[in-house]
Amino acid sequence: MTHKEARLEEVRQFLPQWLEESRKEAASGEVASYIPELSKASHTALGIHLLDINGDSASAGDCGMSFTLQSISKVFTLILALMDNGEEAVFERVGMEPTGDNFNSMLKLELVRPGIPFNPLINAGAITISSMIKGATPQEKSARILDFFRRLSGGSPLEVNEAVYRSEFETGNLNRSIAYFLVENGVLNGSVEEVLSIYFRHCSIEVTCRDLARMALILAGDGTDPLSGENLIPRRYVQIAKTFMITCGMYNASGEFAIKAGLPAKSGVSGGILTFVPGALGIGVVGPALNAKGNSSAGVHLIQRLSQRMDWSLF
Ligand code: DON
Repeated sequence: MTHKEARLEEVRQFLPQWLEESRKEAASGEVASYIPELSKASHTALGIHLLDINGDSASAGDCGMSFTLQSISKVFTLILALMDNGEEAVFERVGMEPTGDNFNSMLKLELVRPGIPFNPLINAGAITISSMIKGATPQEKSARILDFFRRLSGGSPLEVNEAVYRSEFETGNLNRSIAYFLVENGVLNGSVEEVLSIYFRHCSIEVTCRDLARMALILAGDGTDPLSGENLIPRRYVQIAKTFMITCGMYNASGEFAIKAGLPAKSGVSGGILTFVPGALGIGVVGPALNAKGNSSAGVHLIQRLSQRMDWSLF
């Protein structure tokens, strides 16, 4: 594999034009409304921030806007669960395979034995992972997650958006069904409401594109912050997270995204996408209008274009 370069001076020349062209894709998407609080986001917003290993950055569009991590948080709770429990214990409870189904599907939990979630990035897997975070109480577990995310974002004072959290908690009946199913299958132990509170809280952590790019930069550095030199994640766990991002990070559009962009990525229903070019740069994108697979319509378009024009694909 050839070494990839960020080349942000080149990116800066074209970024505003490419962003405006991608913004048109939002017209074909829909802002998520199954979590009522998310439906307030702007349909046409699109923002991007890129941050390279030397600390050089480029941004365009609505990059100052705040949004919640949603499923992007699942990558980092997986990493924390691996750091807390080790690889063997984590993979006794969740699998390593893509599902080809929607992110909130329960289908395979019943069809396949043992009924463990296929991977840690679908809701069933991420709820299981939330239950594996160390801490004496649900509050302590949530505080450890928030503290870890703050360190990965270079000390950004990240907070839970309480309105989004309440909205998810009040309407999360599908996630409750999944959690009860996991208890029945012997995958989850303890209180469903407590595990869901941990899960909903990490999905509701509020960020900007810059925070996403900063967190992605740690993954681009194989777990070592390229800006401070501090090791925050063992390299092996970044390797695991990165592989899941390629195979399952964009849900049942992961294959298409791997072909068109060729980068590890994770999307959320808030319209956020975190992606990176290993060894070169971190990227954070937000565009709340989602395509049929639940990924940002305009965001996917913009990242694919950038990656193709800059020759960033890993493949
Ligand atoms: O549990 C949920 O449905 C949300 N908190 C997260 C889902 C999500 O972001 C899926 N991503 N595309």
